[in-house]
Amino acid sequence: MIRVLFVCLGNICRSPMAEAVFRDLVDKENLTGKIEADSGGIGDWHSGEPPHKGTRKLLDKFQIGYKELKARQVNVSDWGNFDYIIAMDEQNRKDMQSVSNKAGSAKLAKLMDFVEDPREGNIPDPYYTDNFDYTYELISEGCNELLKYIRAENNI
Ligand code: 4NP
Repeated sequence: MIRVLFVCLGNICRSPMAEAVFRDLVDKENLTGKIEADSGGIGDWHSGEPPHKGTRKLLDKFQIGYKELKARQVNVSDWGNFDYIIAMDEQNRKDMQSVSNKAGSAKLAKLMDFVEDPREGNIPDPYYTDNFDYTYELISEGCNELLKYIRAENNI
């Protein structure tokens, strides 16, 4: 099993959206059981909460499921439990790195690193911008490219 963890600040807007979108792609490409996704937040303010209303609205619009999603904080053991840790922005990437004791072998990158000539290097935080549509566009693009990358790297 290949395991992917999406990381943002609060784990209620961007990373649960990425988790749901990515899982939907995995299902559509018949890779369920081969690739698994999860998400976490740098902060613990929203632990146990479902995704933000704006994220739910977007996922509903595209008929992407998210029912079981609940926010949680990232921790050191994530480094050993995942193969890929995918941050939404540079600050999340740096913060995740500082959660590390260098244990584990996960690859750390930003979602937009997988997109050629990306419109943004960082996924803007809709918690502050309120632009969930734009966030969805970028996340959707990023998840498509990430899945291609993972399929190529693992020959699946
Ligand atoms: P997210 O957005 O990192 O995309 O989930 C945020 C959600 C909550 C907060 C910040 C960002 N907050 O400060 O509570």
